[in-house]
Amino acid sequence: MAEPEHILEQMEAHLRKQQPLAGKRVLITGGPTYEPLDPVRFLGNRSSGKTAIALAEAALARGAEVDLVLGPTHLSPSSSTDHLHLHRVETAEEMLRAAEKSFSATHLSLFAAAVSDYRPEQAADQKIKKTDQALQLPLKPNPDILKTLAGTKSPGQCVVGFALETQDAEENGYQKLKAKNCDLIIVNSPDESARGFGHDTNEWIILDRHGQRRATALQSKQQLAHEILDFIRDRGYI
Ligand code: CTP
Repeated sequence: MAEPEHILEQMEAHLRKQQPLAGKRVLITGGPTYEPLDPVRFLGNRSSGKTAIALAEAALARGAEVDLVLGPTHLSPSSSTDHLHLHRVETAEEMLRAAEKSFSATHLSLFAAAVSDYRPEQAADQKIKKTDQALQLPLKPNPDILKTLAGTKSPGQCVVGFALETQDAEENGYQKLKAKNCDLIIVNSPDESARGFGHDTNEWIILDRHGQRRATALQSKQQLAHEILDFIRDRGYI
């Protein structure tokens, strides 16, 4: 007679195959990037990675194989499953290298990371010493991970970008969708009391390349993750 664990594994595998994202590969970038200034300091931002983690959990719950490329955050996905491939990175360049390894095989990619647009031209080998003078820090642009990868996408791959906007949110978001070759873009405007960086809730406007639009309610990042996956399924993107 088969061992109970073996029977359970077979039942789980059978149930997985019935799920809506079974057989689909999903890539998600999330969290901040840290760009070193010297061995102890960096240029970064306050992203927590909560949105990317919620997206990963939602995709896993629907049966997908998930690559989550996560910048420095103390948070981790709660699921421990062989279907989740977690790649922890620090800098934008490391994030690009990790994401490009899986991009061409993915059906759906969601670029939720808050990537530093610039990095110090040269990270100092030793701790930068304080002086009485003003300090100039020359910066150079980082690669745009979303634009670089979406520029190579094939038919059948769905690419979702995020746009953090503080003014003319929808218009700027739609311009970003076009400039970065996305199928959809999720526009959000941070609000210190309830939305965005570090909060458990957010409110999105989802725009697609055909001009369709959905404004979500203010809700948990977990609910938003399921809402975007529903939108993508309902519009036939994957
Ligand atoms: N993005 C990226 N790599 C970068 C910058 C941004 O992959 N170097 C991605 C983000 O993950 C997001 C989208 O591009 O999906 C838009 O990011 P956002 O910060 O809103 O816009 P930027 O392109 O940085 O433009 P700006 O800061 O001028 O609004």
